[in-house]
Amino acid sequence: MIAKNPKDSLTILTDMVLPGETNALNNLFGGELLARMDRACSIAAQRHSRRIVVTASVNHVAFNKAVPVGSVVSVEAKVSRAFKSSMEIYVDVWIEDRESGERTKVNEGIYTFVAVDRTGSPVKVPELIPETELEIVRYEGALRRKQLSLLLTGKIKPEQATELKALFEK
Ligand SMILES: CC(C)(COP(=O)(O)OP(=O)(O)OC[C@H]1O[C@@H](n2cnc3c(N)ncnc32)[C@H](O)[C@@H]1OP(=O)(O)O)[C@@H](O)C(=O)NCCC(=O)NCCS
Repeated sequence: MIAKNPKDSLTILTDMVLPGETNALNNLFGGELLARMDRACSIAAQRHSRRIVVTASVNHVAFNKAVPVGSVVSVEAKVSRAFKSSMEIYVDVWIEDRESGERTKVNEGIYTFVAVDRTGSPVKVPELIPETELEIVRYEGALRRKQLSLLLTGKIKPEQATELKALFEK
Protein backbone atom coordinates (compact mmCIF):
# COMPACT_ATOMS: atom_id res chain seq x y z
CA MET A 1 0.00 0.00 0.00
CA ILE A 2 1.45 3.37 -1.00
CA ALA A 3 1.85 5.91 1.83
CA LYS A 4 0.03 9.20 1.45
CA ASN A 5 0.46 12.76 2.69
CA PRO A 6 -2.20 14.78 4.55
CA LYS A 7 -2.72 17.02 1.51
CA ASP A 8 -3.99 13.99 -0.45
CA SER A 9 -7.06 13.89 1.81
CA LEU A 10 -7.68 17.63 2.13
CA THR A 11 -11.42 18.29 1.95
CA ILE A 12 -12.96 21.76 2.05
CA LEU A 13 -16.72 22.21 2.35
CA THR A 14 -17.78 25.85 1.93
CA ASP A 15 -21.38 26.88 2.53
CA MET A 16 -23.50 29.70 3.98
CA VAL A 17 -25.43 29.73 7.25
CA LEU A 18 -29.16 29.97 6.44
CA PRO A 19 -31.86 31.09 8.94
CA GLY A 20 -33.24 27.52 9.28
CA GLU A 21 -29.85 26.32 10.57
CA THR A 22 -29.58 28.69 13.54
CA ASN A 23 -30.37 28.74 17.25
CA ALA A 24 -32.39 31.34 19.21
CA LEU A 25 -29.46 33.79 19.02
CA ASN A 26 -29.34 33.53 15.21
CA ASN A 27 -26.02 31.70 15.34
CA LEU A 28 -25.29 28.41 13.61
CA PHE A 29 -26.85 25.46 15.53
CA GLY A 30 -24.12 23.20 16.98
CA GLY A 31 -25.63 20.01 15.58
CA GLU A 32 -25.67 21.48 12.06
CA LEU A 33 -21.99 22.34 12.32
CA LEU A 34 -21.19 18.86 13.68
CA ALA A 35 -22.95 17.31 10.66
CA ARG A 36 -20.86 19.43 8.27
CA MET A 37 -17.68 18.49 10.17
CA ASP A 38 -18.57 14.79 10.12
CA ARG A 39 -19.25 14.94 6.37
CA ALA A 40 -15.93 16.68 5.61
CA CYS A 41 -14.02 14.20 7.81
CA SER A 42 -15.76 11.28 6.14
CA ILE A 43 -14.70 12.47 2.67
CA ALA A 44 -11.11 13.06 3.90
CA ALA A 45 -10.99 9.52 5.35
CA GLN A 46 -12.36 8.08 2.09
CA ARG A 47 -9.77 10.01 0.08
CA HIS A 48 -6.96 8.63 2.24
CA SER A 49 -8.17 5.03 2.29
CA ARG A 50 -10.27 4.78 -0.89
CA ARG A 51 -12.56 2.50 1.16
CA ILE A 52 -15.97 2.70 2.87
CA VAL A 53 -15.45 4.58 6.14
CA VAL A 54 -17.52 4.94 9.31
CA THR A 55 -17.28 7.40 12.21
CA ALA A 56 -15.84 5.51 15.19
CA SER A 57 -15.62 8.45 17.59
CA VAL A 58 -15.68 12.19 17.93
CA ASN A 59 -12.69 12.75 20.18
CA HIS A 60 -12.89 16.47 20.61
CA VAL A 61 -14.94 19.45 19.43
CA ALA A 62 -14.47 23.03 20.58
CA PHE A 63 -17.10 25.62 19.74
CA ASN A 64 -14.83 28.59 20.34
CA LYS A 65 -16.78 31.32 18.55
CA ALA A 66 -20.41 31.73 17.50
CA VAL A 67 -21.10 31.68 13.75
CA PRO A 68 -23.76 34.27 12.81
CA VAL A 69 -26.49 33.71 10.21
CA GLY A 70 -25.28 34.67 6.72
CA SER A 71 -21.65 33.68 7.45
CA VAL A 72 -19.65 31.88 4.80
CA VAL A 73 -18.26 28.83 6.61
CA SER A 74 -15.36 26.65 5.40
CA VAL A 75 -14.96 23.27 7.02
CA GLU A 76 -11.47 21.93 6.26
CA ALA A 77 -10.57 18.32 7.07
CA LYS A 78 -7.34 16.34 6.64
CA VAL A 79 -6.16 12.97 7.90
CA SER A 80 -3.66 13.63 10.70
CA ARG A 81 -2.55 10.01 11.31
CA ALA A 82 -3.36 6.57 9.99
CA PHE A 83 -3.11 3.49 12.19
CA LYS A 84 -4.10 -0.06 11.06
CA SER A 85 -7.72 0.47 10.05
CA SER A 86 -8.43 3.72 11.85
CA MET A 87 -7.60 7.28 10.86
CA GLU A 88 -7.57 10.43 12.94
CA ILE A 89 -8.99 13.41 11.08
CA TYR A 90 -8.46 17.01 12.14
CA VAL A 91 -11.12 19.48 11.08
CA ASP A 92 -10.72 23.25 11.27
CA VAL A 93 -13.68 25.60 10.77
CA TRP A 94 -13.22 29.11 9.40
CA ILE A 95 -15.50 32.01 8.59
CA GLU A 96 -14.59 34.83 6.23
CA ASP A 97 -15.32 38.53 6.39
CA ARG A 98 -17.64 39.50 3.54
CA GLU A 99 -15.73 42.65 2.58
CA SER A 100 -12.07 41.97 3.38
CA GLY A 101 -12.13 38.20 2.87
CA GLU A 102 -10.11 37.89 6.11
CA ARG A 103 -10.51 34.45 7.68
CA THR A 104 -11.17 33.73 11.38
CA LYS A 105 -10.92 30.25 12.88
CA VAL A 106 -14.09 29.54 14.86
CA ASN A 107 -14.03 25.84 15.71
CA GLU A 108 -12.04 22.66 15.47
CA GLY A 109 -12.66 18.99 15.93
CA ILE A 110 -10.86 15.66 15.98
CA TYR A 111 -12.65 12.61 14.62
CA THR A 112 -11.74 8.94 14.27
CA PHE A 113 -12.90 7.04 11.21
CA VAL A 114 -12.44 3.35 10.47
CA ALA A 115 -12.13 1.87 6.97
CA VAL A 116 -14.37 -1.16 6.55
CA ASP A 117 -15.28 -3.72 3.88
CA ARG A 118 -18.84 -4.32 2.65
CA THR A 119 -19.60 -6.46 5.71
CA GLY A 120 -18.48 -3.68 8.07
CA SER A 121 -15.23 -5.40 9.11
CA PRO A 122 -12.19 -3.13 9.57
CA VAL A 123 -9.59 -3.19 6.75
CA LYS A 124 -6.04 -1.82 6.51
CA VAL A 125 -5.38 1.74 5.38
CA PRO A 126 -2.24 3.32 3.84
CA GLU A 127 0.36 4.90 6.13
CA LEU A 128 0.31 8.70 6.48
CA ILE A 129 3.49 10.78 6.21
CA PRO A 130 3.08 14.30 7.63
CA GLU A 131 4.88 17.15 5.84
CA THR A 132 4.28 20.55 7.44
CA GLU A 133 5.19 21.56 11.00
CA LEU A 134 1.52 21.56 12.07
CA GLU A 135 0.93 18.16 10.42
CA ILE A 136 3.90 16.72 12.35
CA VAL A 137 2.60 18.10 15.68
CA ARG A 138 -0.86 16.63 15.03
CA TYR A 139 0.65 13.30 13.89
CA GLU A 140 2.76 13.00 17.02
CA GLY A 141 -0.19 13.65 19.37
CA ALA A 142 -2.54 11.25 17.61
CA LEU A 143 -1.48 8.05 19.38
CA ARG A 144 -2.12 9.45 22.84
CA ARG A 145 -5.52 10.80 21.71
CA LYS A 146 -6.35 7.35 20.34
CA GLN A 147 -5.33 5.75 23.63
CA LEU A 148 -7.41 8.29 25.59
CA SER A 149 -10.46 7.58 23.46
CA LEU A 150 -10.02 3.80 23.81
CA LEU A 151 -9.48 4.17 27.56
CA LEU A 152 -12.62 6.30 28.02
CA THR A 153 -14.72 3.79 26.08
CA GLY A 154 -13.28 0.89 28.11
CA LYS A 155 -11.58 -0.69 25.07
CA ILE A 156 -8.13 -0.69 26.68
CA LYS A 157 -6.90 -0.85 30.27
CA PRO A 158 -4.99 2.07 31.88
CA GLU A 159 -1.71 0.11 31.74
CA GLN A 160 -2.08 -0.22 27.95
CA ALA A 161 -2.24 3.57 27.52
CA THR A 162 1.56 3.85 27.44
CA GLU A 163 1.79 7.01 25.35
CA LEU A 164 -0.76 8.74 27.55
CA LYS A 165 1.06 7.71 30.75
CA ALA A 166 4.34 9.03 29.36
CA LEU A 167 2.77 12.47 29.13
CA PHE A 168 2.38 12.60 32.92
CA GLU A 169 5.84 11.16 33.62
CA LYS A 170 7.74 13.94 31.76
C1 LIG B 1 -15.98 1.53 14.27
C2 LIG B 1 -16.14 0.01 14.16
C3 LIG B 1 -16.00 -0.39 12.70
C4 LIG B 1 -15.00 -0.59 14.98
O1 LIG B 1 -15.20 -1.97 14.93
P1 LIG B 1 -14.55 -2.96 16.03
O2 LIG B 1 -15.16 -4.27 15.84
O3 LIG B 1 -14.58 -2.29 17.37
O4 LIG B 1 -13.12 -3.09 15.48
P2 LIG B 1 -11.75 -2.95 16.23
O5 LIG B 1 -11.82 -3.11 17.71
O6 LIG B 1 -10.79 -3.82 15.47
O7 LIG B 1 -11.38 -1.44 15.93
C5 LIG B 1 -11.03 -1.01 14.64
C6 LIG B 1 -10.16 0.21 14.79
O8 LIG B 1 -10.94 1.27 15.32
C7 LIG B 1 -10.31 1.81 16.46
N1 LIG B 1 -11.32 2.29 17.37
C8 LIG B 1 -12.44 1.65 17.73
N2 LIG B 1 -13.14 2.42 18.60
C9 LIG B 1 -12.42 3.57 18.76
C10 LIG B 1 -12.59 4.75 19.54
N3 LIG B 1 -13.64 4.92 20.34
N4 LIG B 1 -11.64 5.69 19.47
C11 LIG B 1 -10.56 5.57 18.68
N5 LIG B 1 -10.34 4.46 17.92
C12 LIG B 1 -11.26 3.48 17.97
C13 LIG B 1 -9.50 0.64 17.03
O9 LIG B 1 -8.45 1.09 17.87
C14 LIG B 1 -8.98 0.02 15.74
O10 LIG B 1 -7.93 0.83 15.25
P3 LIG B 1 -6.68 0.23 14.39
O11 LIG B 1 -7.19 -0.89 13.53
O12 LIG B 1 -6.21 1.37 13.56
O13 LIG B 1 -5.66 -0.19 15.39
C15 LIG B 1 -17.52 -0.48 14.74
O14 LIG B 1 -17.57 -0.19 16.12
C16 LIG B 1 -18.70 0.17 14.04
O15 LIG B 1 -19.06 -0.23 12.95
N6 LIG B 1 -19.31 1.15 14.70
C17 LIG B 1 -20.44 1.88 14.11
C18 LIG B 1 -19.94 2.95 13.16
C19 LIG B 1 -21.07 3.84 12.68
O16 LIG B 1 -22.11 3.36 12.32
N7 LIG B 1 -20.82 5.15 12.70
C20 LIG B 1 -21.81 6.10 12.34
C21 LIG B 1 -22.55 6.49 13.59
S1 LIG B 1 -24.10 7.14 13.20
